[in-house]
Amino acid sequence: MKVSASILATTLAWASWTSANPVKLVSRVPDQTRCVEYQKYVGIYNGAYEQSCVHLVENCKDTVINSNITNPWTVKSCVAAATCEGIVPLIGLIQCTSGGQSLPDVQQIGYLDYPTIYAGIVGSCAWQEGGCPINQQNYIDFVYGALSDVGTDSWPDINNVINNWWKSITQWTATGDTVPYMNFSDWLHYSNSGN
Ligand SMILES: *[C@@H]1O[C@H](CO)[C@@H](O)[C@H](O)[C@H]1NC(C)=O
Ligand SMILES: *[C@@H]1O[C@H](CO)[C@@H](O)[C@H](O)[C@H]1NC(C)=O
Repeated sequence: MKVSASILATTLAWASWTSANPVKLVSRVPDQTRCVEYQKYVGIYNGAYEQSCVHLVENCKDTVINSNITNPWTVKSCVAAATCEGIVPLIGLIQCTSGGQSLPDVQQIGYLDYPTIYAGIVGSCAWQEGGCPINQQNYIDFVYGALSDVGTDSWPDINNVINNWWKSITQWTATGDTVPYMNFSDWLHYSNSGN
């Protein structure tokens, strides 16, 4: 019963933390120049282009718009797309698209979903006391899994996945070789990646 007690504790901690940090929904559609840039540079992150990333971005955009989702960090393809596209261009691109104008701005978006997304990245250790951080292999598996889910016909260069996508996160969080939940959630809200 130790396991179920710690699952409960972790879930309650996450639930009470997210409800104590209410999210205000504000949306400002970027200006036309930015919209044109976001469209033109989709799939490019820190100067490197990956066709596979475009598939994640498109799936995220379609899912958010078609399902009227206000928190893209509850959608696997969106979290993966944020790490390959940059958060600012991803959210901006959706806000620039018909039907996506009501998506809140980056800092007002809700928290990364723990049970469905974060636990899916790190595995069952998410439910041990204190949870566990994302390691590089977790991240790689997550990205390839997300690509598989969207039915991609192209795959990224693994060196780009590690040295560009993953290391951009670890550099910002400054948590060493792994990234705990809170710090990854902070990266989604405050890093302004891809800006
Ligand atoms: C979509 O969400 C917005 C904002 O929450 C709401 O005003 C609108 O009615 C929703 N549309 C549909 C089709 O559910
Ligand atoms: C990671 O997040 C925790 C919780 O918000 C924070 O206390 C800690 O300072 C962060 N680590 C770094 C290196 O910023």
